[in-house]
Amino acid sequence: ARVVVVYGGTSAEREVSLKSGAAVLAALKRQGIDAIGYDPKEEGLVGLERLAPTAVFVALHGRGGEDGMLQGALELLGLPYTGSGVLASALGMDKQRTKQIWQAVGLPTPESIMLNETSDWSKVVSQLGLPMMVKPVHEGSTLGISIVKSQEALEAAYHEAAKYDARVMAERFVVGEEYTVALLNNDVLPAIRVEVPGGFYDYEAKYIANTTQYHLPSGLSLVDEQALADLCKKAFDAVGGEGWGRVDVMRDAMGRFWLIEVNTVPGMTDHSLVPQAAAHAGIDFDQLVLRILDTAVQ
Ligand code: DAL
Ligand code: MG
Repeated sequence: ARVVVVYGGTSAEREVSLKSGAAVLAALKRQGIDAIGYDPKEEGLVGLERLAPTAVFVALHGRGGEDGMLQGALELLGLPYTGSGVLASALGMDKQRTKQIWQAVGLPTPESIMLNETSDWSKVVSQLGLPMMVKPVHEGSTLGISIVKSQEALEAAYHEAAKYDARVMAERFVVGEEYTVALLNNDVLPAIRVEVPGGFYDYEAKYIANTTQYHLPSGLSLVDEQALADLCKKAFDAVGGEGWGRVDVMRDAMGRFWLIEVNTVPGMTDHSLVPQAAAHAGIDFDQLVLRILDTAVQ
């Protein structure tokens, strides 16, 4: 049996993926598994087949890896791979269509509006209020995202997000606390409350700063923790998520939860959230990697 860890790639999250993949690869090797890393940046999937994998561990983040494209190619090659299939991967990468699915099944997610060059900025502000979030629809690790505090800043935020994606959305900002919940097979791992001194859990706060606080246990009451777990499981199931993933949620001042997004290939770096939640549940990093590998079934 040979596991190929696919990592790196060409998305804006390449650097994050290189770290996730290196950590996964090291964990597999430590456990005596024949594992090799493969970066599709240079020759796409051509060299992957040559490695004759018996299973593929998907550690690519962002477009071309987390968005269903790789998953489709692996289906065609007949190779088992970790995590979600084509549809859930593609949906998870599309923050707006994920919200449409959640709305359709009655799950709470903040209102959003698609933006373009000719958007009526004052109308957007009156509909969503300030502050609001502006996001590229298909991006990860907070790249291209702004918190907009004035109408004047909205157009600039649109152009910033448009550098990353042809589709840009504005979303009502939920003032409150930020939580994230990892799903592993049929288990829901303990919620983490993320607290950032600057208030914005951006790329810097995610991967560079050491000032971000990860509250584990989350501080929620047992009832709220259970409600959050149920909500995240439903949210993951609604998009057809499989294997493992992570759902990001805000909690407003009234204690209501709002679904923000789902990540079908969450980060596995030393700063990442899923490994922390797993550790709190008694699953160390090596065990976590094996549990994820077990999701690679055909
Ligand atoms: N998109 C990053 C890798 C995450 O969700 O952890
Ligand atoms: Mg994300």
